[in-house]
Amino acid sequence: MEAGVSGVDRAIILAGGSGTRLEERSGGANKHLLMLHDAPMVLYPLAQAIEAGLTRFLLVTTREALPTFRALLGDGAKWGVTIEFASQSRPDGVAGALAEGEGFAAGKPCCVLLGDNITDGDVGLREALQDFRGGAEVFAFPFEDPRAYAVAAFSSEGELVSLEEKPAVPRGSWAVGGIYIYDATAFDRIRGIAPSSREEREITDLNRSYFAEGLLRVHRVGGHVFWNDAGTPGSFDRAVEHVALARQRGNLRLGNPARAAVEVGLLPREE
Ligand code: DAU
Repeated sequence: MEAGVSGVDRAIILAGGSGTRLEERSGGANKHLLMLHDAPMVLYPLAQAIEAGLTRFLLVTTREALPTFRALLGDGAKWGVTIEFASQSRPDGVAGALAEGEGFAAGKPCCVLLGDNITDGDVGLREALQDFRGGAEVFAFPFEDPRAYAVAAFSSEGELVSLEEKPAVPRGSWAVGGIYIYDATAFDRIRGIAPSSREEREITDLNRSYFAEGLLRVHRVGGHVFWNDAGTPGSFDRAVEHVALARQRGNLRLGNPARAAVEVGLLPREE
């Protein structure tokens, strides 16, 4: 599929950063390569993206980890997709990592996935990609204590009223997960983002720039979908537990790009 006014076919998976919060598990290695139950963490967002119909990928990571990702993923041909690689010169934030994807996006809209987010269930990504008409779209999940994430708050009419990164006192109970869709203006917007107090260019500042212009759409995903940011020891363990249970129930699809590729017809069933 050629991406254009309707339809998005390309995705950028962000797998850089310093991963300090998971250091006790990773020993300093790139967290997205950690085995999460029976698959390396990065395969979860990749499989999810393939299942949603995306076929062209750029993986952004650190210079040191890049060869290992290349060895693990190859050029994507084994799953009927293409995978390219880019490195982020320093971990200057999620939006900083995304900036490395400008050439890959080539003026087309793009999906962006955080490499440490594990999602099980239908968030409606396939439809959102097919129907995308510009601006930015994000996915929010109900979360009891969303302080560790970007938090979206809505009016009683369902209008987005605020979007804040890791607020000490959240105004809402919707956490914005690591799945985004952007039009090609994202890269110019990122150039205008100043580093936050944690010295990072925040993805939430990018989203807020769309929000300020009435160009941000928030899909509120029901509680039936499992969403987890596996970037801390506690949430990593919860993700492992979830996948183990899902496997017991016969779900072999999670974190499995080959199965996802078969599902969407990129590979014949016998493979
Ligand atoms: O998980 C969802 C949350 O992810 C969102 O709600 C937040 O708005 C967003 O800022 C992000 O928060 P985190 O503090 O969890 O971000 P983290 O530093 O873990 O980075 C998220 C992903 O982006 C991770 O898979 C690594 C990648 N990354 C991160 C940084 C800082 C990079 O590729 N380069 C970077 O420089």
